[in-house]
Amino acid sequence: MGFDTIIRNGIVVTATDTYPADVAIENGQIVALGANLPAQNASAVIEASGKFVLPGGIDVHTHLDMPFGGTTSADDFETGTRAAAFGGTTTLIDFAIQYKGQPLRQAFDTWMSKAANRAVCDYAFHCIVTDVSGGQLAEMNDLVREGVTSFKLFMAYPGVFMLDDGSIFKALQTTSKNGGLVCMHAENGSAIDVIVQQALAQGNKAPKYHALTRPTTAEAEATARAIALAEMADAPLYIVHLSCNDALEEVREARDRGLPVYAETCPQYLYLSIDKFDAPGFEGAKYVFTPPLREKWHQEKLWNGLARDHLQVVSTDHCPFCFKEQKELGRDDFTKIPNGGPGVEHRMSLIFSGGVAGGRFSVNRFVKLISTTPAKLFGLYPRKGTIAVGSDADLVIFDPERKHVISAKTHHMRVDYSMFEGIEVTGMPDVVLSRGRVVVEHDKFLGRPGQGEFLRRSTYTQVSA
Ligand code: URP
Ligand code: ZN
Ligand code: ZN
Repeated sequence: MGFDTIIRNGIVVTATDTYPADVAIENGQIVALGANLPAQNASAVIEASGKFVLPGGIDVHTHLDMPFGGTTSADDFETGTRAAAFGGTTTLIDFAIQYKGQPLRQAFDTWMSKAANRAVCDYAFHCIVTDVSGGQLAEMNDLVREGVTSFKLFMAYPGVFMLDDGSIFKALQTTSKNGGLVCMHAENGSAIDVIVQQALAQGNKAPKYHALTRPTTAEAEATARAIALAEMADAPLYIVHLSCNDALEEVREARDRGLPVYAETCPQYLYLSIDKFDAPGFEGAKYVFTPPLREKWHQEKLWNGLARDHLQVVSTDHCPFCFKEQKELGRDDFTKIPNGGPGVEHRMSLIFSGGVAGGRFSVNRFVKLISTTPAKLFGLYPRKGTIAVGSDADLVIFDPERKHVISAKTHHMRVDYSMFEGIEVTGMPDVVLSRGRVVVEHDKFLGRPGQGEFLRRSTYTQVSA
């Protein structure tokens, strides 16, 4: 018997186990796991001794080729998925945006055509719903049947993306019945808008005012309100890009009460703080994203939340805009700086480095946060998110010792700066496979645009610690 590929002598890591095993791959799937699998007839043998073999990362929060703030995010589905692959992430869930008055189908079709023939690894979509006044609630059921089983709603950005509480409640009642999952951008947009207008009236227009006009209380209030609306609708809830301890406390309390409430945070909230706005001139624009950076003490609270299962997922909210020409749009007014930062490439190394190498949690917890729980919550498990016979051979040969200094000079994202410039990480992917094909080998990209497939997802599965 011959396999397509055997990964030999590695340490297989899943959300629950760590053990030495060879991994055999055929037709893009894992077909055997065990000691001393017969390598002599395999078409390719990858040596993994001294390395971890991890399930490919799943980043459930990216914005590729997304129009926003008068420009478009700098990575498209080719460059964004390629950069993701360099970092060990082999599945992305991006956001298809329904603009007011449009059917959801239009959003889905538009984003499908953005990704087709470009993506180098597999992808799926959440649908951003900004208007439920037409037939959109019924359309949510249609999308769930077609594998778009989660929806992002905004409590911020009034006049652009924000939904009122009644509309949010109706959408939650809909997912309560159709098995979908609402992903909530939880910030009190109406209050923030008042604070923003007051800042502008006082002439406070520098980048730091983006952060100073979005207090943690606005995030915590919206998080609590979202949880209450979901509880009334008897629906599960997923809070996106949670940035601060105040909001974390709301999630922890809801979970203590047994509610199906989940939350993600992102590497920027774990590594960076509001002090970044002390940089001279317009430099702070590099860190203008929403929710904003917080005071440093929140970071350890978030790490602790990841370790204790108060937070279940780390995503990136990758939404890159070049400093020159894009962030520049807001040089005279922080409200015109396109919101978002680049991060898809470094999520796994940053979380391994701070979490596992930093002694905060186990390598199994790491796998759970960056792959297994995302797969379960978003209907991709067990095809994705684990290493098991029958799962896709999305695999990362990961060197837990290799050190790397993050820099825009060496990264693969199509953006002219790095939020994490100069940070040294411990732990880097050596070889990355997407459905059995090597897409990255050390510094070489071996993938091909268009080889990524759209993933029709199942509905949400409840996840416990
Ligand atoms: O600033 C951000 N986060 N930009 C992307 C849009 C969003 O709210 O996730
Ligand atoms: Zn958001
Ligand atoms: Zn986002």
